[in-house]
Order: sequence, then structure tokens, then C-alpha cells
Amino acid sequence: MNNFTFHNPTKLLFGKGQIANLGAELPAGARILLTSGGGSIKANGVYDQVIAQLQGRTFFELSGIEANPRYETLMRGVALVREHQLDFLLAVGGGSVIDGTKFIAAAVPFTGGDPWRILSDGASVERALPLASVLTLPAAGSEANGAAVISRDDQKLAFWTTHVYPVFSVLDPETTFSLPPRQIANGVIDTFVHVMEQYMTYPVQGLLQDRFAESILQTLVEIGPKLLAGGRDYDLHANFMWCACMALQGPVGAGVPADWSSHCIGHELTALHGVDHARTLAVVLPSLLDVKRETKGEKLVQWAERLWGIREGTPGQRIDAALARLRAFFEQMGAPTRLSGHGIPASTADVVAQRLAARGVNTIGERGDITPSVVRRILARAA
Ligand code: NZQ
Ligand code: ZN
Repeated sequence: MNNFTFHNPTKLLFGKGQIANLGAELPAGARILLTSGGGSIKANGVYDQVIAQLQGRTFFELSGIEANPRYETLMRGVALVREHQLDFLLAVGGGSVIDGTKFIAAAVPFTGGDPWRILSDGASVERALPLASVLTLPAAGSEANGAAVISRDDQKLAFWTTHVYPVFSVLDPETTFSLPPRQIANGVIDTFVHVMEQYMTYPVQGLLQDRFAESILQTLVEIGPKLLAGGRDYDLHANFMWCACMALQGPVGAGVPADWSSHCIGHELTALHGVDHARTLAVVLPSLLDVKRETKGEKLVQWAERLWGIREGTPGQRIDAALARLRAFFEQMGAPTRLSGHGIPASTADVVAQRLAARGVNTIGERGDITPSVVRRILARAA
């Protein structure tokens, strides 16, 4: 097991009715920017619950943060914060709203020129405004981590810093009852792949981390199809929300190698073709595991047994059978596992490989052995 430092500063208020505790968590006298997306929170009643908690408070609003949040919209938030001397950000929505708010929090005090440099050049974030979130879509895990993914022009890039962990996040599973099947599926698949990025590498005797990972995967396989069937089963939605949060807030990835190449490739497909983040991963992951079966072989065989119950046959046969189960699960959740399923031409493999090479992204994966030419092979096999 590798050395690690584990510190997650985000306080979580989890469960039914927890938005009613939001007011007590906000700093006294805070001057707040309330951020949101395209209107789902007004349709599902979350907005009214939040506004009720802001009575008597000074707050301004930035709505319209897009899925795959865009720099231009977020810079309007930066201007609002500066104009009204706001000092606390409250994001209400899914991962895009929370990520966008993290960018605003980092951009306001940024002194290194254009805040886009935080994404494009990896410019250091020395401090950020405090922020909190009310989560309405379990998927990204942004409600309890230091990462954010921002889009500008044809680029979709990520940054990570300890300074943008939410001070607190409210996770009320009832806010997810209004999610359409597509977003339920996106949340289940994104969470599944977050776990795989931190698990499907090579053994380092992280015995407990492996079982943390496998338990989340087993839970997702169990509840995913039930969630998709619809209904307002509180405990199903509570487990969904908790899986998505736990997948990317620390314990799964502590002390073990991580891959993240499916995400790196997937972000390019979203930037180029506008495909939902999670749905790009449903295409990339199965093909990547197939191409990298040699270096991932030990964990693939363990995963075949512990997640899918596959114990018979040669290692290669078990891996084939497990990858077939993976594709079947993603497709059962309504996500194609081929580029053609999204109408994306096979030629995109060259375009993605060239874009990554042009940015100097030449050595991704847990061993740094996924080069642009390997990326091309992975996408060609997913055509
Ligand atoms: O914009 P609104 O009106 O809120 O509608 C949203 C949006 O259209 C809707 N929605 C959200 N909650 C809802 C709801 N509709 C009905 N009922 C609700 N309760 O769902 C749509 C998608 O929302 P979005 O926030 O984009 O989805 P998600 O939470 O999956 O976030 C995706 C973003 O997260 C980034 C992705 O790249 C993508 O930009 N990621 C962030 C990560 C992180 N911070 O650690 C890691 C992830 O790997 C991921 O890359
Ligand atoms: Zn993701």
C-alpha cells in the first residue's frame, strides 16, 4: 500500500429534509452568490426550499450554468462577486453547477492573469472563496472533493485544489426524485467509472480499498436498474447518492494507484461531440480495459470474480466474460458502448489522439503507458 494523506474537510448533511438546516450552516453576515443551472431546481421545489433558508440574508443569483459549465458564464459570476463584494458561494444543482462555482471561487482571488490559466496551464490556486453546495444529481462527486471540470471553446479541462472543497454540502435524496432516466443512468455510470479509475490498475495490497471499491460497484449493479425503473423509493435514491459521494471523496483511492485515462479520453469526446460525460465513459472504459488487459490482468481477474461471480475458465476467458457483463450493464442502463451508438465516426480516434498529443498529454494511465497511439487503438476498438 502506498503512503497517503487523507483529509476531507467537507461537512455532509445527508438525508430527507436537510435543506432546512442550510441556514444554520451559512456563516453569519455572509454576502452570498447563489448559483444554479437551467431551471431544474425551480421545477422540483429545491429552489423554494433554499430561498426560504436565505430569508434575511444578502444574496445575489447566477443561474444558467450549463451542463459542462462554460467559462464565459462563470466569468459573469466572477463579475457579480466583485461588483457586490460577495464572500460566500452556494451552488444548488448537479456536478456542473458545483464545478462551475468552484471555478468562480478560485477565479475571484486569482492574481495570475486570465483565470482560464488555472485550467490551461495548471496555474496554482493559492486561495478561493468559501463555497457550499446543495446537491441534486449524484454523479460527479463534486459535492465533497476538490476537483472541477470547465469548458471553453472546444476545450474541456479539469483542475484540482484543496481550496475548493465545499465547506459543507447538503445531500437530500428526495431532490433526486425529479431526475429523468437519462440522468439517473449518467449518475450510476459516472460513479461506477470513478471507482474503476481508482481500482482497476494493479495490486498494491490495498485490501480494504479493493473491498471499498467492490462494495460500491456491487451496490450500483444492484440498484442501477431499479432506479431506472423509476419511482420514489427513498432508500434506493439514498444509496445512489451515498455511492456517488463515497466514490470520489477519498477512501477508495487512498494509497493505491489511479488510472483516470477513461476520463481524459471521455472529456475529449464530450468537447468534440457534446456527448454527456458519463456516456463517453460507457464507450471508453470497456474498450480501454480490453486493450490494457495485459497490464491490468490481475485486477481484472479479481474484479471478474468479486463483482460478476466469474470463477471458471482461463484468465483470458474470465476477462472476456467480465467485459461482456460490463457492456451489458451499461447498455441495460441505456448507454451505448460503441462510438457508432452516438453517431460518432471512427475517425474521431485520430482527432482525439492528435488533440491529446498537441497538449502534451502523452503518458496517461496508472503506468503512464497510455500514449496518443494507444488512445487511438482504444477508440478504434470502440468504433
Ligand atoms: O441545469 P439544470 O436545470 O439543473 O438541469 C440539470 C442538467 O440539465 C439536470 N438536473 C440536475 N439535477 C436535477 C436535474 N434534473 C432534474 N432533477 C434534478 N434533481 O441534469 C442535467 C445534467 O446536470 P449536470 O450537473 O451537468 O450533471 P452531473 O451532475 O453529471 O455533472 C456533470 C459534470 O461533472 C463533471 C463532468 O465533466 C460534467 O461537466 N465532473 C466533475 C467531477 C468532479 N468535480 O470531481 C468528476 C467527474 O468525473 C466529472 O468529470
Ligand atoms: Zn466522471
